[in-house]
Amino acid sequence: MTERIFLSALRSYQHLAALAQTAATTSLKKLFAEDSDRADRLHLTAAGLALDYSKQLITPEILTGLLTLAQEAGLAAEIADLFAGVHINNTEDRPALHMLLRAASSTGSKPRLEQVESSRELMRTWSEQVRSGAWVGFSDAPITDVVNIGIGGSDLGPRLVTEALQPFQGAVACHYVANVDPADLQGCLLDLNPASTLFIICSKSFRTEETLTNGLAARQWLINAGASDNNLARHFVAVTSNVEAAREFGILEQHCLPMWDWVGGRYSVWSGIGLSCAIAIGWDNFARFLAGAEAMDQHVQSAALSENMPVLCSLLDIWNYHFLAAGNHVVLPYDNGLRQLPAYLQQLTMESNGKRVNTNGTPLPYNTGPVLWGSAGTMGQHSFHQLLHQGTLLCPADFVLPLTTHTGMQAQHRRLVANCLAQSRTLMIGRSIEEAEAALRERGLSHEEATSLAPHLAMPGNRPSNTITMLSLTPNTLGALLALYEHRTFCTARLWGINPFDQWGVELGKEIGVQVLEKLENAEASTIMDASTEQLISHWRQAQS
Ligand code: F6P
Repeated sequence: MTERIFLSALRSYQHLAALAQTAATTSLKKLFAEDSDRADRLHLTAAGLALDYSKQLITPEILTGLLTLAQEAGLAAEIADLFAGVHINNTEDRPALHMLLRAASSTGSKPRLEQVESSRELMRTWSEQVRSGAWVGFSDAPITDVVNIGIGGSDLGPRLVTEALQPFQGAVACHYVANVDPADLQGCLLDLNPASTLFIICSKSFRTEETLTNGLAARQWLINAGASDNNLARHFVAVTSNVEAAREFGILEQHCLPMWDWVGGRYSVWSGIGLSCAIAIGWDNFARFLAGAEAMDQHVQSAALSENMPVLCSLLDIWNYHFLAAGNHVVLPYDNGLRQLPAYLQQLTMESNGKRVNTNGTPLPYNTGPVLWGSAGTMGQHSFHQLLHQGTLLCPADFVLPLTTHTGMQAQHRRLVANCLAQSRTLMIGRSIEEAEAALRERGLSHEEATSLAPHLAMPGNRPSNTITMLSLTPNTLGALLALYEHRTFCTARLWGINPFDQWGVELGKEIGVQVLEKLENAEASTIMDASTEQLISHWRQAQS
């Protein structure tokens, strides 16, 4: 394997480090004042999305430096390798070909395409059967509710898509259960009728404890309601690469949709894992969702680096993390349907890029995997935006804004848009002490009062943000949006020298979980744990009695 060069060892990186000194004294307000074309120049459209990155703390020299960095790092070749099926996931010796799931005409070997197409055909057929009432439960009643049981990538993607595309929702309601806390499943099943409920057990490995535990409890719920061994199978579908385990669970082989080792869990919403979405919004809309992502796939492969939306977003992330010392990234969707976007992106970015060694296994000399967080606007404005505006931590933001609403309530939506644009503008312009003082004097405060209060009202501004807009939140634009973040995550990973497609860090916790469960179930279990864990186990034991 070729030795990877650290990003920080590239010549352009040193140049950017020097430019960062001047950026510290630059103000966004000044940059806009000096360049009347700035908003127009730092604006890009692709696959139905528009990116305004003019509120990023960059000058033309910095942008050129970042593009040179991408060239020196060979980013275009990395993108080509991804699509060509090179074994980018080197620790598991696999390609990452989730793009194939959304492209009939994409790269990849013929057998892979054929498998994808036959899986899509099954999804289409099943979603139509459920939606038309042809799929019936144990009492021959049509399915009215679908419960997706899965966790991580087998939950977050379909949950987000179903919620975001609620205006496209048909008559069958889709629900999501992920947590092994029994309250999650119990709460979900409370209002459902077992006779008309279909469960989709989504688990690539079919070994995930949370999912199997919930699946077994769902099975018991159906049995308690009168389902017999003969007709229980009507209520279960699996999406998995481990058909044998699904069969052992009691799911018919012909009720299994495939998953492949070349699709990572957090990149799998485009596969059978999206079945609940296809049921919720109908196959044609699901196909549009895939098409939107494919449009972004084509864009990332063909656009020049300077006009490439995922590449630019990634370079701006690198700028903010490395040179402006931001260790986090806040995502603020101004659309209630996108309220799960931060949670979805947490898995995508932090499970992909929360790594401390490069592909060679060499420790990285810089921080990676910034904390991603956020919530739907305007909710955060009444909670954590205080910190965004006046805290000491720099939080680069992504504002995500559909420009129109499906609700028909234009006047109310106008307020949402106003809030979004006001927040990004306020982050940028801030308020000087002098301006704060003047505002206080206008309110009738004395000079002394105004001077003493002004530092509390002043806001530094100069806080960078992207604004990603789309005409409307549709299956197409949602597909493009998620693919944008996927490719952005990939580009950042490769600039860092990381393999974004493995997740060894989650394994040890699972192993220790099994050991702790043994101790909870059997006080005599031989494993000795640390004093703190032993004490907590003993508290739990006391609580049970
Ligand atoms: O624990 C992490 C993880 O492996 C994720 O990567 C994955 O999306 C999730 O668990 C669920 O895995 P599975 O689909 O195999 O149940």
